[in-house]
Amino acid sequence: MAADMHQNLEILYTRQQIAERVAEMGAQITQDLNSEKLVMVGVLKGAAPFLADLARAVQVDATFDFVATSSYGSGQRSSGAVKLIKDLDEPVEGKNVLVVEDILDTGLTLSYLRKHLLQQRPKTLRIATLLDKPSHRLEKIEADYVGFSIPNLFVIGYGMDYGERYRNLPDICLMTPDHPE
Ligand code: IMP
Repeated sequence: MAADMHQNLEILYTRQQIAERVAEMGAQITQDLNSEKLVMVGVLKGAAPFLADLARAVQVDATFDFVATSSYGSGQRSSGAVKLIKDLDEPVEGKNVLVVEDILDTGLTLSYLRKHLLQQRPKTLRIATLLDKPSHRLEKIEADYVGFSIPNLFVIGYGMDYGERYRNLPDICLMTPDHPE
């Protein structure tokens, strides 16, 4: 299945490169937490594979929660408006929160989520993003942990989609405009 889906796709980061980087991020997060507990908040759906791997690279007592926002819909362009579709299951007041996101692009999603989560007064609120596209930013926001910083390219795989497809590709691939649908 995965091999067929890879046809005509250019790999940007292999599964091994991703695994190595995620392990480094996990070690850094572990060090910064100083043995304190963590709530990992995954942003559905794209961050699911990243959260699953990052959680196993973080050597602390961690729980999971998930939020979902309106996203890119079926195409490659953002509508601009962010809407909360699913909120946290448990309150995070006084807790160390790590928001886990697949891509920080315009920053609209994470700016919205940061404001929303800060209203609950967590002890700390940090952001981990697998990919960062700093050149595409519309909101002033940076992640505390960045896997890879990339130019303004459209990527798929390892959770990231185009019209809900390709999330299960094990590598991060480039989506080219002439890619066959
Ligand atoms: P932002 O609100 O513009 O920062 O967008 C963040 C969200 O846009 C990410 O969580 C992704 O769901 C989506 N996104 C941005 N760039 C890409 C991409 O290259 N491929 C797939 N999804 C993307």
